[in-house]
Amino acid sequence: MEQVDLFLLNSDEITRVQTRLHLWYKQNCRLLPWREVSDPYLIWISEVILQQTRVDQALDYYQKFVTQFPTVVHLASADENSVLKCWQGLGYYSRARNLHASAKIIATHFNGNFPKTYAEIRQLKGVGDYTAAAICSFAYNLPYAVLDGNVYRFLSRYFALETPIDTTSGRYEFSHLADLLLDKENPALHNQAMMEMGAVQCVVKNPKCELCPLKDSCKARKYELVDFYPVKSKKIKTRNRYFYYFLIKYKESIFLRQRSEADVWRKLYEFPLFEADFSISSEEVVQHESVQKFLKNGFLLKRISNVKKHVLSHQHIYAQCFYVEIDEVNAYLLDNYECVGFNDVENYPISRLVEIFMNEYLEM
Ligand code: ADE
Repeated sequence: MEQVDLFLLNSDEITRVQTRLHLWYKQNCRLLPWREVSDPYLIWISEVILQQTRVDQALDYYQKFVTQFPTVVHLASADENSVLKCWQGLGYYSRARNLHASAKIIATHFNGNFPKTYAEIRQLKGVGDYTAAAICSFAYNLPYAVLDGNVYRFLSRYFALETPIDTTSGRYEFSHLADLLLDKENPALHNQAMMEMGAVQCVVKNPKCELCPLKDSCKARKYELVDFYPVKSKKIKTRNRYFYYFLIKYKESIFLRQRSEADVWRKLYEFPLFEADFSISSEEVVQHESVQKFLKNGFLLKRISNVKKHVLSHQHIYAQCFYVEIDEVNAYLLDNYECVGFNDVENYPISRLVEIFMNEYLEM
């Protein structure tokens, strides 16, 4: 398969791609609230939410987040639990912790004014090349080309580029190509158009090639290899984990603890947990010594939930909840968990999974 010679891409071809793409965008773009603003803070929030979230789900969270924390100073002075609570259900919670930490830095080191250069923005926690380029172009119209999954897919197909996108040379090559194609006079419009092309037109499955403004010059379409691109070098290995939660009711309270490990759901709260590397029977779970520690003085098992599968990018979590009641609280529970009254539970940030188990309990 021929490879595009990046240095032979002539200016007529570049202008033709830009013109068709921009016109298509103006006629077809979705109206999204973060596209109507140029406040870098609002754009930052939207981009971080959109990093791992579909646009339809992002909309509600974006509105909720910017209503609760309308400026960087509001976010900086909020307590971490309220930020996590606002993020609850969205997943990948390090995004919220990083936003909060960066807001504090902006409040103290930049006097509450959002930084204005690529280098300063790129230094913020949780901001990579993509997010820095998005903020700089959308908020300040600075000429930085964005390169996200949508752009990789569109470029790899249009130019039939076979370099795997998950390699250093691939990143370098695609980034060079995105820079060459960037309309330096209109970087905001250009970047939005590139991403929109990948998001709504040149989509992963069943791309709408017949409606594409660039269909006549798309190499992947010419070779009938649209599904072959983008090329990746490795298959992501997934790890299976088995979570056995215990919702332990004691009088009008349950027990929660904050996850502190550098692991999924860090800083969110959860029920007492026994984790295993493989699936085990309910009898074995209940008898396991680490479970017996918190069920020491006897318990009444009310129900066991179905197994719920929670899919994350590199791991699959199979989780089950044991609903139990105790009459007497033991020292291990008191030392390691917070005893939280039913009325107070809603103030604790929890994962979507724990929330589902909690709701099942309330409906029991
Ligand atoms: N995904 C990432 N950034 C986006 C944006 N600004 N608009 C729509 N989808 C996006």
